[in-house]
Amino acid sequence: MSSFRIAVIPGDGIGPEVTNAACAVLEQIGRKFDHQFDFSELLAGGSAIDATGDALPAATLAACKNSDSVLLGAVGGPKWDDLPGNRRPERALLDLRGGLNLYANLRPAILFEALSVASPLKAEIVDKGIDIMIVRELTGGLYFGERGRRAGGNLEDGTPMGVEAYDTEAYSEVEIERIVRVGFDMAMGRSKKLTCVDKANILESSRLWREVANKISSEYPEVALDFMYVDNASMQLVRRPNDFDVIVTTNMFGDIISDEAGMITGSIGMLPSASLGKPGTPGMYEPVHGSAPDIAGMDMANPLAAILSAAMMLRWSLSLTREADAIEKAVTDVIASGWRTKDIAYGQDDKVIGTKEMTAKVIASIV
Ligand code: IPM
Ligand code: MG
Repeated sequence: MSSFRIAVIPGDGIGPEVTNAACAVLEQIGRKFDHQFDFSELLAGGSAIDATGDALPAATLAACKNSDSVLLGAVGGPKWDDLPGNRRPERALLDLRGGLNLYANLRPAILFEALSVASPLKAEIVDKGIDIMIVRELTGGLYFGERGRRAGGNLEDGTPMGVEAYDTEAYSEVEIERIVRVGFDMAMGRSKKLTCVDKANILESSRLWREVANKISSEYPEVALDFMYVDNASMQLVRRPNDFDVIVTTNMFGDIISDEAGMITGSIGMLPSASLGKPGTPGMYEPVHGSAPDIAGMDMANPLAAILSAAMMLRWSLSLTREADAIEKAVTDVIASGWRTKDIAYGQDDKVIGTKEMTAKVIASIV
């Protein structure tokens, strides 16, 4: 029997409900495939601010570093909205990403056939399917660049411009190379097509991305690499999503287009994500949806994104491919049988159930 230490950060809002669900599913995987998962629950986000004054207590980061992998629910909520930017619950996410050196964020945007009516796109577009893997750089660029405030200059007529705030987009060759490699490796395991999304008509940092991507592409002769400006990419994503396979992009562009890609699948409550660092170091897995404080504690949250995040964890951090497949198949089967949480219920035949029952259905389908 193999055993794995999983750091669990339930977080805020519906976070605890959905991580509970994911852990229950992992326990079932443990029973079926003879693995042991040792969960240790850790504080981060708003609940950590309340308990310790700190969005990411040092003990949490240390325990995460010491785990095989991290499973996170969601952080944030209106209760903490008035705190200054660097003390908000979301800070915990950035510090976890930075602290664990999680430079590669994998955000699959998959259209579940049974849920295709939920997509805001026309049927003729959706019918071709959507299966995109966004590889977002996660520890550099605008999010982590030099920032600050300074005295602004003067307008031409001498009027003072007041305080000026700035953020910087800086990427080194090494940072670009390692994320672009993740994109190429991902493309090799899929349909061998990689799109680098940038703004090379304007940004110097994007021009370096192109140079590095072109250089690395010689090591991956089978992968067709193309480049697309981010403004065009955001149009093409709604016009012909089926033409995209793997997208690699910066932290900021990835933040934006991954929300767009998630939206066009119609089921944000279904989307998992993985954040990975150097091979052999713990990754972090979390649903893309937020903490949804309005439905917290009501047994209404969709646990499937967290459950699918646990599947990604098995696949990308623990090398348990069959087990990951088993979870993904169970989720597909449960959806195909008409079971829905409220957020994904559209048709008259949908059978609406709560978080706990949905989790039980998935567990029962893991065979
Ligand atoms: C995301 C979120 C975060 C980000 C926020 C909450 C800091 O939007 O994970 O996409 O901007 O990265
Ligand atoms: Mg975002």
